[in-house]
Amino acid sequence: MRIVLGVGGGIAAYKVASLLRLFTEAGHDVTVIPTEAATRFVGVATWEALSGHPVSNSVFDEVHTVNHVRLGHEAELIVVAPATADLLARAAAGQANDLLSNTLLMAGSCPVLMAPAMHTEMWQHPATRANVETLRSRGVTVLEPASGRLTGSDSGPGRLPEPEAIFDAALALAGALALPETAAMPASEAELSAPPRPLAGLTVTISAGGTREPLDPVRFLGNRSSGKQGVALAAAARDAGAKVRLLAAHMDVPPPAGVDVVKVETALELRKAALHAAADSDVIIMAAAVADFRPADVSGTKIKKRDDLADPVISLVRNPDILRELVEVRDAASRKQLIVGFAAETGDADGDVLDYAAAKLRRKACDLLVVNHVGQDKVFGEDTNSVVILSRSGSEAQEASGSKSDVAAAVIDRVSAELSRVVPPA
Ligand code: C5P
Repeated sequence: MRIVLGVGGGIAAYKVASLLRLFTEAGHDVTVIPTEAATRFVGVATWEALSGHPVSNSVFDEVHTVNHVRLGHEAELIVVAPATADLLARAAAGQANDLLSNTLLMAGSCPVLMAPAMHTEMWQHPATRANVETLRSRGVTVLEPASGRLTGSDSGPGRLPEPEAIFDAALALAGALALPETAAMPASEAELSAPPRPLAGLTVTISAGGTREPLDPVRFLGNRSSGKQGVALAAAARDAGAKVRLLAAHMDVPPPAGVDVVKVETALELRKAALHAAADSDVIIMAAAVADFRPADVSGTKIKKRDDLADPVISLVRNPDILRELVEVRDAASRKQLIVGFAAETGDADGDVLDYAAAKLRRKACDLLVVNHVGQDKVFGEDTNSVVILSRSGSEAQEASGSKSDVAAAVIDRVSAELSRVVPPA
């Protein structure tokens, strides 16, 4: 595949040398277009040596080949990493003041993926948010940056996702996870070597993490969900070819690259986001730990500890059951949609885990219920999981265990299998 790799002027440019190697070693033909500022971090010689092509950032080089038009026309995929705040702004405004911005304007129908990296304040600035929204509304895939240590002593969202994650997201976007040589193979062999993409063309919404219900401006009621299982599901759905929307409540882990992220805090915010997303989702997976109750009153000021007053008593009100509501809305609209719930259960003297889970599946009326057996130190925050997948269609219960990625892959496989029943192919 012919790839243009645009490199922005940020320190993370050095990591993009590894991304370039991943592309070339997978057999792709990569032309690198650094911005002027990028060449201050990594020199032209490095890009030329690693790509095997001449490198320029000026529209006045190789003018006889009409370079500023040709590169964008010929590209089958454009990846920009790191996409700095300036580069996002120039792309959103449609500027054409260097070779990379010209190439982006000439891209036509070719998929474009931008992997931002910048300081958290820049990423969260309303100007950058607006630029990202504009680019996404035009069909550009703008990855969420990773969270962690930034160049100075600060940390937060703004790190360039790892080269492997950008590589996977870029090839998934181009629908080219198959090795390039497969193009020359007879169809049957190409099919054999291409990883299956059973969710290609489908939109999957996944909720993850734990909601936080405010008590006052500094305190909340929360839970111990880490978001790891939901994030693994999002990555598995993405790898299966789906367009993935992650409704992210509080998570201890960053979202995966290549998925759209909608951040939520409370159960009510999650409800709103989920009902909105449901309108165009083929699959909804509610992996978030949603608070069943929220404080009846949220104090506008910090609740004070005072010796002359009694200690406060918190009264709770019930949150809506989002999963149940999604099923009701789907059924009322006769929408073809597969809805998956999660349940953390324990057994007791009256019944074992599966008895309680089967009752919950009937109550919630979702299509699949992924049941965790919760015990002390089990599940929350761990990297492994062990589940049973129950189906309302009555098909056999299925066990899956291993890393949270293994469990996610099993759930996504089961979703694909059930889909052919719930959403018959057109
Ligand atoms: O009833 P329980 O909390 O055990 O159900 C768990 C499932 O229901 C999960 O899929 C969770 O995301 C979802 N849920 C919900 N709204 C709530 C509580 C749980 O959608 N208020």
